[in-house]
Amino acid sequence: MNFNEAKNEILQTLGRTDPQELAKIIDWLKNSDDLDDLLVDNQKAILMSIAEDLRPCLPLEAMFPSETMAIQKTQQTSKPTVHVDAFLYDEETVDSLCEDRKMSRNYCLNCGSHSTAPLEFISHSFSVSELRFLFHHVLPDLTGRLVMDVGSRLGTVLYGGYLYSSAARLVGVEMSEEFVKLQTMVVEKYAFGDRIQVIHADICTQAALVQNADVLIMNNVFEYFMEPKDQAKAWNFISQNFLKKGALLVTVPSIQEALISLQASNGLTEIGHWLEEVLLDYSAYLQSDTELDFLKQIHLYRVL
Ligand SMILES: C[S@@+](CC[C@H](N)C(=O)[O-])C[C@H]1O[C@@H](n2cnc3c(N)ncnc32)[C@H](O)[C@@H]1O
Repeated sequence: MNFNEAKNEILQTLGRTDPQELAKIIDWLKNSDDLDDLLVDNQKAILMSIAEDLRPCLPLEAMFPSETMAIQKTQQTSKPTVHVDAFLYDEETVDSLCEDRKMSRNYCLNCGSHSTAPLEFISHSFSVSELRFLFHHVLPDLTGRLVMDVGSRLGTVLYGGYLYSSAARLVGVEMSEEFVKLQTMVVEKYAFGDRIQVIHADICTQAALVQNADVLIMNNVFEYFMEPKDQAKAWNFISQNFLKKGALLVTVPSIQEALISLQASNGLTEIGHWLEEVLLDYSAYLQSDTELDFLKQIHLYRVL
C-alpha cells in the first residue's frame, strides 16, 4: 500500500469511528509508542546492542563487589529483593534467564516445596522504555542544552539522551571508578564522545557544572549508595547550586519521597522551596500497567 492508499484507509477508518472515541484515537496515533514498533527504531537497536556489550562485564546482579552498601541495603529490605538491572535485562531477557534457571521471579517460602512468592525487583538503571519516555515525553526540546546525570552508573541516561534528544552536551558524574570505565568503553566504541563526557567524581565537588546545567537527572541516586547524613549533605549541595531559573530537575522517586526519612534527623534544611513540580501526562504514553507504575515514579520540577 502506498502513502495515498494508506492515508485514505486511515481517513475511512476514522470516518467510521464513534465520534466520542475520535479524540482518543487521534491522541493514540500521535503519541503511542505502539506505533514505534512498526518503525525500525534504530536508537532502540543501538541501546540494546550496548546492553549486550555490557552484560558480560558485570555479574548477573549488575553490582560490583565493591558496592558493599548497595548490596547490604538490597539484602535488608522487608521483602526478599533482587537487583535486576532494567537496562541490561528487559522482560524478554529475564524470561529466558528464568527458563534457563539462571534467574528466578519467585522465592521459596518453605524450602523444597512448591510454595513460592514473587521476589521484589529493583533496578539501578532506567530501562530503554523509561529512557524513551524521559526524552520524548518528560523533557522539552533540548537543542543547545546541557544535561547532567547525577550518578551515571552504566551511562544509560547519557546514551538515551544522545540518541533520543538533541541535547548539546550530556555529562555523567559517577563516583564508582568501575562504572566510569564501563561508560568510557561504550562512549569510545559508539563514538559518542562529541556530545558525551563522563567525570569520575562525587557530585558535591562539581559545583560549576551543576550551576551551568539546564537539566539535572537524579534517578534513585543516593539512597542505596550513601549514609543518610551524606545523602542530606548532597541534597543540600544540589539545592544550593542548581539555581538557574527555568532549569529542569528530573527525580525518581519524587523529592518528597526521597527526603522523607532524611529531613528529621540529618540536619536537612527545608528543601524543594526553589522548585515547582511540572505535572506529567502519562496518558500520552500508553503502556502496560507495570510499565505505567515505573513511569509514575518519574517526577519533573522547574527551578523558580
Ligand atoms: C541508581 S544509580 C543511577 C543510574 C543512572 N543514572 C540511570 O538512571 O540509569 C545511582 C548511581 O549514583 C552513583 N552515586 C551515588 N552517590 C553519588 C555521588 N555523590 N556522586 C556521584 N555518583 C554517585 C552510584 O555509584 C550509582 O552508580
